[in-house]
Amino acid sequence: MVLREGDLAVVWIDPKRVYLVRLEKGKKLDTDRGSLPFDNVIGREYGDFVEISKGRAFIMYPSLDYIYDGLHRPSQVLYPKDIGYMIFKSGIRPGDTVVEAGTGSGFLTISLSHFLGPSGKVISYDVREDMQERARKNLELVGLLDRVELKLGDVRENIDEVNVDAVFLDMPDPWLATETVYKALKPSGSVVVFVPTVGQIEKTFLSLRKNGFVDVEAVELILREYQVKENATRPRSIGVTHTGFIITGRKSIKGSSEIGE
Ligand SMILES: C[S@@+](CC[C@H](N)C(=O)[O-])C[C@H]1O[C@@H](n2cnc3c(N)ncnc32)[C@H](O)[C@@H]1O
Repeated sequence: MVLREGDLAVVWIDPKRVYLVRLEKGKKLDTDRGSLPFDNVIGREYGDFVEISKGRAFIMYPSLDYIYDGLHRPSQVLYPKDIGYMIFKSGIRPGDTVVEAGTGSGFLTISLSHFLGPSGKVISYDVREDMQERARKNLELVGLLDRVELKLGDVRENIDEVNVDAVFLDMPDPWLATETVYKALKPSGSVVVFVPTVGQIEKTFLSLRKNGFVDVEAVELILREYQVKENATRPRSIGVTHTGFIITGRKSIKGSSEIGE
């Protein structure tokens, strides 16, 4: 596919120098390996190499994991291993409507809106305007802002929407939002919560059980990266070693979750 002005591309120089860019005529990417004028990229194809002063850059079609190389993240963000499971467990489908809190840097928002497609909608709440401004810029850069509504608000107090397909929470005290989440969801809709510490699991889990959610589960996903070298292939000794825990549940109609364990 021939690259045109306005296209998004990943510039890969080496594993430590990976950049997400929007191609604009007359602009360039500056790196410690040299500059890359975008005029030299426009007209090429994804998969091509372009010369820079200290080597060459590989131009890639962006997949979602490059948001980790190209976007600002003022908050802690969710990682692909957790996001993948969260989306899978939620049961959402392209075209669905989901509510999310908090927006943070917008990494989960981007993943959700990408997955839901052009007919889907993410309504994303945050109590901090500065976070939403950053998330707005990130969403704009990757071209997904039109699938997202950013709302300033505290989901512990209120969620405007009703009958939504799923609610995703990544905030410090999600157990205080289980009642508002219950009201926002359609019957059998999913709640998917991410928490970074063990103490938060119990409070969230028990609050969900008390407030009408069934099939409540808590899991941790562990991912190990490998360094691959001849005669030295082994798990990497550095990297992200802990992310957090995921708690999922489904809204029951009757409002009582005291059914089974
Ligand atoms: C860890 S960040 C979310 C990161 C986000 N999932 C991502 O992947 O970029 C947590 C966010 O929750 C917001 N927050 C905290 N309490 C909230 C509440 N009661 N309602 C809405 N947002 C809240 C914070 O302002 C913060 O921006």
